[in-house]
Amino acid sequence: MIYLNGKFTPIEEALIPVLDRGFIFGDGVYEVIPVYSRHPFRLQEHLQRLQNSLMSIRLENPHSEDQWRTIIGQVIDLNETDDQSIYLQVTRGVAKRDHAFPVDSVPTVLVTSNPLNPPRDEQLQKGVSAITATDNRWLRCDVKSTALLPNVLLRQLAADAGCVETILLRDGQLTEGSASNVFVVKSGIVLTLAKSNLILPGITYDVVLELVQANGIAHELRSVAKTELDDADEIWITSSSKEILPVTTLDGSPVGKGKPGPVFQRLHELYQSYKAQVMRAPGQ
Ligand code: PDD
Repeated sequence: MIYLNGKFTPIEEALIPVLDRGFIFGDGVYEVIPVYSRHPFRLQEHLQRLQNSLMSIRLENPHSEDQWRTIIGQVIDLNETDDQSIYLQVTRGVAKRDHAFPVDSVPTVLVTSNPLNPPRDEQLQKGVSAITATDNRWLRCDVKSTALLPNVLLRQLAADAGCVETILLRDGQLTEGSASNVFVVKSGIVLTLAKSNLILPGITYDVVLELVQANGIAHELRSVAKTELDDADEIWITSSSKEILPVTTLDGSPVGKGKPGPVFQRLHELYQSYKAQVMRAPGQ
Protein backbone atom coordinates (compact mmCIF):
# COMPACT_ATOMS: atom_id res chain seq x y z
CA MET A 1 0.00 0.00 0.00
CA ILE A 2 1.24 3.47 -0.85
CA TYR A 3 0.27 7.10 -0.30
CA LEU A 4 -0.21 9.31 -3.36
CA ASN A 5 -1.55 12.87 -3.09
CA GLY A 6 -3.81 12.30 -0.10
CA LYS A 7 -4.96 8.74 -0.90
CA PHE A 8 -3.79 5.32 0.27
CA THR A 9 -3.95 2.75 -2.54
CA PRO A 10 -2.33 -0.50 -3.67
CA ILE A 11 0.77 0.43 -5.71
CA GLU A 12 -0.62 -1.29 -8.86
CA GLU A 13 -3.55 1.15 -8.89
CA ALA A 14 -1.56 4.35 -8.36
CA LEU A 15 -1.15 6.57 -11.45
CA ILE A 16 0.73 9.81 -12.11
CA PRO A 17 -0.09 12.09 -15.09
CA VAL A 18 2.48 12.00 -17.90
CA LEU A 19 3.09 15.74 -17.53
CA ASP A 20 4.31 15.39 -13.97
CA ARG A 21 7.56 17.38 -13.82
CA GLY A 22 9.17 14.55 -11.91
CA PHE A 23 8.73 12.40 -15.04
CA ILE A 24 9.49 15.13 -17.59
CA PHE A 25 12.44 16.90 -15.89
CA GLY A 26 13.39 14.87 -12.82
CA ASP A 27 12.16 18.03 -11.05
CA GLY A 28 11.77 16.65 -7.55
CA VAL A 29 13.49 15.45 -4.40
CA TYR A 30 13.28 12.30 -2.29
CA GLU A 31 14.22 10.53 0.91
CA VAL A 32 14.80 6.89 1.85
CA ILE A 33 14.06 6.10 5.51
CA PRO A 34 14.82 2.71 7.09
CA VAL A 35 12.17 1.35 9.45
CA TYR A 36 13.15 -1.19 12.14
CA SER A 37 10.40 -3.04 14.04
CA ARG A 38 7.95 -0.44 12.66
CA HIS A 39 9.97 2.52 14.02
CA PRO A 40 11.36 4.92 11.41
CA PHE A 41 15.08 5.46 12.11
CA ARG A 42 16.23 9.07 12.53
CA LEU A 43 12.94 10.38 11.15
CA GLN A 44 13.49 13.94 12.27
CA GLU A 45 16.86 14.08 10.50
CA HIS A 46 15.38 12.64 7.28
CA LEU A 47 12.52 15.17 7.38
CA GLN A 48 15.02 17.98 7.97
CA ARG A 49 17.11 16.84 4.98
CA LEU A 50 13.91 16.70 2.87
CA GLN A 51 13.18 20.28 3.95
CA ASN A 52 16.72 21.33 2.95
CA SER A 53 16.40 19.63 -0.45
CA LEU A 54 13.02 21.30 -1.06
CA MET A 55 14.43 24.71 -0.11
CA SER A 56 17.37 24.18 -2.47
CA ILE A 57 15.03 23.56 -5.41
CA ARG A 58 12.71 26.41 -4.33
CA LEU A 59 9.71 24.16 -3.71
CA GLU A 60 7.56 24.79 -0.67
CA ASN A 61 7.21 21.81 1.66
CA PRO A 62 3.65 20.55 1.07
CA HIS A 63 3.41 19.13 4.61
CA SER A 64 4.29 20.05 8.17
CA GLU A 65 6.57 17.72 10.11
CA ASP A 66 3.53 16.37 12.01
CA GLN A 67 1.66 15.68 8.77
CA TRP A 68 4.68 13.81 7.38
CA ARG A 69 4.93 11.75 10.57
CA THR A 70 1.23 10.84 10.32
CA ILE A 71 1.42 9.84 6.63
CA ILE A 72 4.60 7.81 7.14
CA GLY A 73 3.09 6.10 10.23
CA GLN A 74 0.00 5.16 8.21
CA VAL A 75 2.04 3.74 5.31
CA ILE A 76 4.10 1.68 7.80
CA ASP A 77 0.89 0.36 9.43
CA LEU A 78 -0.64 -0.57 6.06
CA ASN A 79 2.32 -2.72 5.04
CA GLU A 80 3.12 -6.19 6.29
CA THR A 81 6.78 -6.38 7.20
CA ASP A 82 8.14 -4.92 10.44
CA ASP A 83 11.39 -3.75 8.79
CA GLN A 84 10.65 -1.49 5.82
CA SER A 85 12.31 1.00 3.55
CA ILE A 86 10.09 4.08 3.24
CA TYR A 87 10.55 6.17 0.10
CA LEU A 88 9.26 9.78 -0.03
CA GLN A 89 9.14 11.76 -3.24
CA VAL A 90 7.96 15.31 -3.83
CA THR A 91 7.87 16.77 -7.35
CA ARG A 92 6.91 20.20 -8.69
CA GLY A 93 3.64 18.70 -9.89
CA VAL A 94 1.80 18.53 -13.21
CA ALA A 95 2.12 21.37 -15.75
CA LYS A 96 2.45 22.10 -19.47
CA ARG A 97 6.05 21.38 -20.48
CA ASP A 98 8.23 24.43 -19.90
CA HIS A 99 11.53 24.48 -18.05
CA ALA A 100 10.59 27.52 -15.94
CA PHE A 101 8.53 26.86 -12.82
CA PRO A 102 4.76 26.68 -13.39
CA VAL A 103 2.60 29.18 -11.52
CA ASP A 104 0.24 27.51 -9.02
CA SER A 105 1.14 23.87 -9.64
CA VAL A 106 0.38 21.46 -6.81
CA PRO A 107 3.34 19.27 -5.72
CA THR A 108 2.99 15.53 -6.25
CA VAL A 109 3.61 13.62 -3.01
CA LEU A 110 4.39 9.91 -3.07
CA VAL A 111 5.22 7.65 -0.12
CA THR A 112 5.96 3.97 -0.78
CA SER A 113 7.21 1.08 1.30
CA ASN A 114 9.39 -1.92 0.47
CA PRO A 115 10.73 -4.64 2.71
CA LEU A 116 14.10 -3.50 4.07
CA ASN A 117 17.04 -5.50 2.70
CA PRO A 118 19.97 -5.11 5.08
CA PRO A 119 23.38 -6.46 4.00
CA ARG A 120 23.63 -10.25 3.99
CA ASP A 121 25.80 -11.96 6.63
CA GLU A 122 28.16 -13.13 3.91
CA GLN A 123 28.70 -9.52 2.76
CA LEU A 124 29.47 -8.45 6.32
CA GLN A 125 31.86 -11.36 6.88
CA LYS A 126 33.74 -11.16 3.58
CA GLY A 127 33.19 -7.58 2.54
CA VAL A 128 32.19 -6.45 -0.95
CA SER A 129 33.95 -5.28 -4.12
CA ALA A 130 33.91 -1.74 -5.49
CA ILE A 131 35.42 0.13 -8.39
CA THR A 132 36.43 3.77 -8.72
CA ALA A 133 35.28 6.22 -11.41
CA THR A 134 35.36 9.93 -12.11
CA ASP A 135 32.59 11.86 -10.37
CA ASN A 136 30.90 13.62 -13.29
CA ARG A 137 27.77 14.74 -11.42
CA TRP A 138 26.60 18.33 -10.96
CA LEU A 139 27.89 20.56 -8.15
CA ARG A 140 24.81 20.27 -5.90
CA CYS A 141 25.26 16.68 -4.73
CA ASP A 142 24.01 17.82 -1.30
CA VAL A 143 20.48 17.97 -2.78
CA LYS A 144 18.72 14.59 -2.73
CA SER A 145 17.33 15.07 -6.23
CA THR A 146 15.34 12.47 -8.14
CA ALA A 147 17.40 13.45 -11.22
CA LEU A 148 19.72 10.49 -10.69
CA LEU A 149 20.90 9.70 -14.23
CA PRO A 150 24.62 10.31 -13.45
CA ASN A 151 24.32 8.11 -10.33
CA VAL A 152 22.49 5.45 -12.36
CA LEU A 153 25.21 5.38 -15.04
CA LEU A 154 28.01 5.32 -12.45
CA ARG A 155 26.36 2.55 -10.44
CA GLN A 156 25.89 0.50 -13.62
CA LEU A 157 29.69 0.54 -14.10
CA ALA A 158 29.90 -1.35 -10.77
CA ALA A 159 27.12 -3.74 -11.80
CA ASP A 160 28.88 -4.41 -15.13
CA ALA A 161 32.05 -5.26 -13.18
CA GLY A 162 30.16 -7.54 -10.76
CA CYS A 163 30.74 -5.04 -7.93
CA VAL A 164 28.45 -3.52 -5.31
CA GLU A 165 29.40 0.15 -5.55
CA THR A 166 31.25 2.76 -7.60
CA ILE A 167 33.41 5.04 -5.46
CA LEU A 168 33.72 8.49 -6.99
CA LEU A 169 36.72 10.77 -7.39
CA ARG A 170 36.69 14.44 -8.33
CA ASP A 171 40.10 15.88 -9.27
CA GLY A 172 41.75 12.83 -7.74
CA GLN A 173 39.96 13.27 -4.39
CA LEU A 174 37.30 11.02 -2.87
CA THR A 175 33.74 12.35 -2.88
CA GLU A 176 31.27 9.49 -2.15
CA GLY A 177 29.71 6.38 -3.65
CA SER A 178 27.03 6.40 -6.38
CA ALA A 179 24.47 5.75 -3.59
CA SER A 180 26.50 5.81 -0.36
CA ASN A 181 29.06 7.77 1.67
CA VAL A 182 32.60 6.46 2.00
CA PHE A 183 34.95 6.11 5.00
CA VAL A 184 38.62 5.11 4.94
CA VAL A 185 40.78 3.78 7.79
CA LYS A 186 44.55 4.28 7.79
CA SER A 187 46.76 3.40 10.77
CA GLY A 188 43.71 3.26 13.06
CA ILE A 189 42.42 6.71 12.03
CA VAL A 190 38.95 6.99 10.47
CA LEU A 191 39.01 9.42 7.54
CA THR A 192 36.17 10.96 5.61
CA LEU A 193 35.56 14.30 3.95
CA ALA A 194 33.53 17.02 5.63
CA LYS A 195 30.04 17.81 4.33
CA SER A 196 29.95 20.12 1.33
CA ASN A 197 28.09 20.60 -1.95
CA LEU A 198 30.09 17.65 -3.33
CA ILE A 199 28.40 14.92 -1.25
CA LEU A 200 25.01 13.98 0.12
CA PRO A 201 24.92 14.67 3.87
CA GLY A 202 24.19 11.05 4.76
CA ILE A 203 22.10 10.24 7.81
CA THR A 204 24.20 7.07 8.30
CA TYR A 205 27.38 9.18 7.85
CA ASP A 206 26.19 11.32 10.79
CA VAL A 207 25.48 8.26 12.95
CA VAL A 208 28.92 6.80 12.18
CA LEU A 209 30.67 10.08 13.04
CA GLU A 210 28.66 10.42 16.27
CA LEU A 211 29.64 6.87 17.29
CA VAL A 212 33.30 7.49 16.39
CA GLN A 213 33.32 10.68 18.48
CA ALA A 214 31.39 9.23 21.44
CA ASN A 215 33.75 6.25 21.65
CA GLY A 216 37.02 8.14 21.36
CA ILE A 217 38.00 6.54 18.04
CA ALA A 218 40.66 8.60 16.22
CA HIS A 219 39.21 10.36 13.18
CA GLU A 220 39.87 13.23 10.80
CA LEU A 221 37.47 15.14 8.57
CA ARG A 222 39.55 16.08 5.54
CA SER A 223 39.90 15.43 1.85
CA VAL A 224 41.12 11.94 0.92
CA ALA A 225 43.27 11.40 -2.19
CA LYS A 226 42.94 8.42 -4.56
CA THR A 227 46.42 7.29 -3.45
CA GLU A 228 45.10 7.04 0.14
CA LEU A 229 42.22 4.86 -1.06
CA ASP A 230 44.74 2.57 -2.78
CA ASP A 231 46.81 2.46 0.40
CA ALA A 232 43.90 2.16 2.88
CA ASP A 233 43.74 -0.44 5.67
CA GLU A 234 39.93 -0.41 5.48
CA ILE A 235 37.23 1.17 3.32
CA TRP A 236 33.53 1.25 4.27
CA ILE A 237 30.45 2.46 2.45
CA THR A 238 27.45 3.69 4.44
CA SER A 239 23.79 4.26 3.61
CA SER A 240 20.33 3.76 5.07
CA SER A 241 19.98 0.37 3.36
CA LYS A 242 23.63 -0.80 3.50
CA GLU A 243 24.23 0.51 7.06
CA ILE A 244 28.05 0.10 7.28
CA LEU A 245 29.47 -2.26 4.69
CA PRO A 246 33.18 -3.10 4.37
CA VAL A 247 34.79 -2.84 0.91
CA THR A 248 37.52 -5.48 0.74
CA THR A 249 38.35 -5.31 -2.98
CA LEU A 250 38.88 -2.02 -4.83
CA ASP A 251 39.49 -1.98 -8.59
CA GLY A 252 40.39 -5.68 -8.38
CA SER A 253 43.01 -5.32 -5.61
CA PRO A 254 42.58 -6.24 -1.94
CA VAL A 255 41.93 -3.40 0.52
CA GLY A 256 44.37 -3.83 3.44
CA LYS A 257 44.39 -7.52 4.31
CA GLY A 258 41.46 -8.18 1.96
CA LYS A 259 38.97 -8.83 4.76
CA PRO A 260 36.82 -6.65 7.00
CA GLY A 261 39.11 -4.88 9.49
CA PRO A 262 38.98 -4.37 13.27
CA VAL A 263 37.75 -0.78 13.12
CA PHE A 264 34.82 -1.90 10.94
CA GLN A 265 34.02 -4.72 13.40
CA ARG A 266 33.95 -2.19 16.26
CA LEU A 267 31.74 0.28 14.38
CA HIS A 268 29.40 -2.48 13.22
CA GLU A 269 28.83 -3.54 16.85
CA LEU A 270 28.39 0.06 17.98
CA TYR A 271 25.92 0.71 15.15
CA GLN A 272 23.84 -2.38 15.94
CA SER A 273 23.65 -1.55 19.65
CA TYR A 274 22.81 2.09 18.88
CA LYS A 275 19.97 0.90 16.63
CA ALA A 276 18.67 -1.47 19.32
CA GLN A 277 18.81 1.34 21.88
CA VAL A 278 16.89 3.92 19.81
CA MET A 279 14.33 1.32 18.77
CA ARG A 280 13.63 0.54 22.43
CA ALA A 281 13.10 4.27 23.15
CA PRO A 282 12.23 5.80 19.76
CA GLY A 283 10.91 9.16 21.09
CA GLN A 284 12.03 11.21 18.05
N1 PDD B 1 21.06 6.59 -1.04
N2 PDD B 1 25.27 9.46 -1.06
C1 PDD B 1 24.39 9.20 -2.03
C2 PDD B 1 24.68 9.69 -3.42
C3 PDD B 1 23.21 8.46 -1.75
O1 PDD B 1 22.33 8.21 -2.73
C4 PDD B 1 22.99 7.99 -0.43
C5 PDD B 1 21.77 7.21 -0.05
C6 PDD B 1 23.95 8.27 0.56
C7 PDD B 1 23.78 7.82 1.99
O2 PDD B 1 22.79 8.57 2.66
P1 PDD B 1 21.94 7.94 3.87
O3 PDD B 1 22.92 7.45 4.86
O4 PDD B 1 21.15 9.08 4.36
O5 PDD B 1 21.10 6.83 3.30
C8 PDD B 1 25.07 9.03 0.21
C9 PDD B 1 19.75 6.05 -0.75
C10 PDD B 1 19.74 4.94 0.22
C11 PDD B 1 19.07 5.71 -2.06
O6 PDD B 1 19.16 6.54 -2.95
O7 PDD B 1 18.45 4.68 -2.18
